[in-house]
Amino acid sequence: MNSPLSSQIDLRFGDASKIIEEIQGPVDLVFLDADKENYSHYFDLLIDKVRSGGIILADNVLWSGKVVKPVKENDKSTIALMAFNEKIQHDVRVENVLLPVRDGIMMIRKIKKYD
Ligand SMILES: C[S@@+](CC[C@H](N)C(=O)[O-])C[C@H]1O[C@@H](n2cnc3c(N)ncnc32)[C@H](O)[C@@H]1O
Repeated sequence: MNSPLSSQIDLRFGDASKIIEEIQGPVDLVFLDADKENYSHYFDLLIDKVRSGGIILADNVLWSGKVVKPVKENDKSTIALMAFNEKIQHDVRVENVLLPVRDGIMMIRKIKKYD
């Protein structure tokens, strides 16, 4: 790597589920932008590794507006994103705000007492 900060970068390639399991934590910031069908799974794997006050950013949570329209039963990505958005609303360990920027970014903060 050519970055002057390369010694501080730990770049890993592979399946996100496996890589998340390998990471020790605590993690300050997560950016979710891989396969939408697994966002809820990634959240479940990550939440105990994120430090209290840490942030998870989930991209594409509006999914071009499909998450607020009738959904086709074979549209797995939209169904998964709707379930993810709902799950985050009800998880007492986090608070969130949905930023209506581009395709929607859910900013999720882990509440301190759940460290
Ligand atoms: C929307 S792109 C991400 C773009 C990236 N945020 C950027 O700015 O360059 C989604 C990426 O997730 C990768 N991806 C999909 N499923 C994955 C998985 N299970 N594990 C790791 N990466 C995955 C895809 O190969 C694709 O490169």
